[in-house]
Amino acid sequence: MRVIETIEGLRADCDAARRTGFTVGLVPTMGSFHAGHRSLIAAARAETDFVVVSVFVNPTQFGPTEDLSAYPRDDDGDAATTREAGVDVLFRPSVGAMYPTGTPQTIVHVAGLTDGMCGTTRPTHFDGVCTVVAKLFSIVGPARAFFGRKDFQQLAVVRQMAADLNLPVSVVGCPLVRETDGLAMSSRNAYLNPTERAGAPALHAALVSAADVIVAGERRPAAVVAEIAANIAMQPVMALEYAEVRDAESLRSLEGPGAELRGSFVIAVAARLGLTRLIDNVVVTISGTGVTVDAGVRATTDGPQPVANP
Ligand code: PAJ
Repeated sequence: MRVIETIEGLRADCDAARRTGFTVGLVPTMGSFHAGHRSLIAAARAETDFVVVSVFVNPTQFGPTEDLSAYPRDDDGDAATTREAGVDVLFRPSVGAMYPTGTPQTIVHVAGLTDGMCGTTRPTHFDGVCTVVAKLFSIVGPARAFFGRKDFQQLAVVRQMAADLNLPVSVVGCPLVRETDGLAMSSRNAYLNPTERAGAPALHAALVSAADVIVAGERRPAAVVAEIAANIAMQPVMALEYAEVRDAESLRSLEGPGAELRGSFVIAVAARLGLTRLIDNVVVTISGTGVTVDAGVRATTDGPQPVANP
């Protein structure tokens, strides 16, 4: 595995790989790897010939009061993980390499999809994400780029950006990976103190309970959101930031007077535990044959295992 820190070096390696006839796969990350990241790397290894993993804690996607300086870093662990996973290039640029003039003058903004959900409390977040991901796509030229469904809105926004800008890349969505107690894996879980960590699985439990009421026949989005709010309200360590029900493809809101749940939709939540903000989601599909719930997979020693339907 080559560890590359310069844009010219990375471009040269990716150009050479493509000339050899290899398909290039990209896994963009902010590092501090957990099983969620590892599953994306495994998907890239399985589906492409030349795998690039980027580790860059991207300042432009953090708000002024957010956790940029505290964001967990694990350079040695990340290098060991990528080496073990058979990654070809670990790209680890400095902030100066990615943003040589400081704040970039070109910002990639996806409208519409960035309204609501995480966009409400993080109004500039997706501009930072899209700008850095567009730069990575431009440098690496991947045939396929791998993103987790844990960040459901991010995946939809990046897909839209690639489509709108005719970028020749397939944006691949990968399953959300959970701890054995249901908590969605996140680098930010490391911030939780023991009391918060003990309460954190309640976020997933609230989603499971919302899916349960749909399986039992509930079709009113407002009732589903109310079920989540009631569950979270019972958790003293947790404050709900949002619970929203959106079409799984378009992210169109399914709430509103008289709305009825149908088709495939995502139930997405964000909550605060002390200073830590966590997100989670499940995708529910109502069809003629019944209701299916995609709550992702659980990380086990035998690899990821599906989370059972309620
Ligand atoms: P980061 O939070 O490091 O996540 C990198 C990738 O891992 C994202 O695609 C994210 O959705 C995925 N991921 C994180 N936790 C996951 C989980 N529990 N299960 C499955 N996938 C998971 O997302 C970012 O970094 C940044 O915004 C980035 C796209 C790199 C742009 O800076």
